[in-house]
Amino acid sequence: MKLKYIIAGNWKLNKGPAEAKAFSGELSKRLAKTSLKNTDIIIAPPFVSLPALMANGFSIGAQDVYWEDKGAFTGEVSAAMLKELGVEYCIVGHSERRQFFNETDRTVNLKVSALLKKNIRPIICIGERLEDRKAGVMYNVARFQLAAALFDVEIKDPVDIAVAYEPVWAIGTGNVATPQQAEDMHEVIRQSLEKHFGIDTGSRIRILYGGSVNEENIEGLIDKDQINGALIGGVSLDLDKFLSIINHIEKRER
Ligand code: PGA
Repeated sequence: MKLKYIIAGNWKLNKGPAEAKAFSGELSKRLAKTSLKNTDIIIAPPFVSLPALMANGFSIGAQDVYWEDKGAFTGEVSAAMLKELGVEYCIVGHSERRQFFNETDRTVNLKVSALLKKNIRPIICIGERLEDRKAGVMYNVARFQLAAALFDVEIKDPVDIAVAYEPVWAIGTGNVATPQQAEDMHEVIRQSLEKHFGIDTGSRIRILYGGSVNEENIEGLIDKDQINGALIGGVSLDLDKFLSIINHIEKRER
């Protein structure tokens, strides 16, 4: 089944409000000339740059959220606050948050539930470390992370969530997974989604690949049936390269 692709830019700790404003103005201008049919585009900047994005032709995403609505939680931002800003998507469980900020499978699950309650679409990141792959347990790791993230989670529509397969060894390293490695994992994820949500919904949830995606390797990845888009870090900071990825995807025969 051909699903609408997602191309999401994860800016991480890059681009403050002024740079975000300039980038998004230019992105909107250039997207206006293209009339996209096959692709949903998302930009996820740092929190402080969210209001500066002039989303015209693309959606706004956050990189994290806290699961309580309000209260004494210094430094946190709630789903209700993101909603007020017009945020439509939120990355959850990125491996950098798991590695550097004590994100656990349990907190990923709490965040997914909190976002869905406010009608924000979680992009759930899962993926194995190099040692897991070397030990041959990568599918088990991904299945477990996904099951934990989806504990007690129900959705109304398949577009309500997306899953991003991001092998930790591929993030920011230049070591992209081969299209076949990614496809094999996406098939495992697809099976888990169909088991959790039923075939009808599970077969239509978009599964993105992330980890050293660029304007050259996108073509091989997107050729695969179960790869429904990409979560892009470093290369999403470069407008020309980001647009070139979008153009590759848009011009594909469907
Ligand atoms: P990268 O990051 O494209 O820079 O490897 C991907 C991600 O972390 O989402």
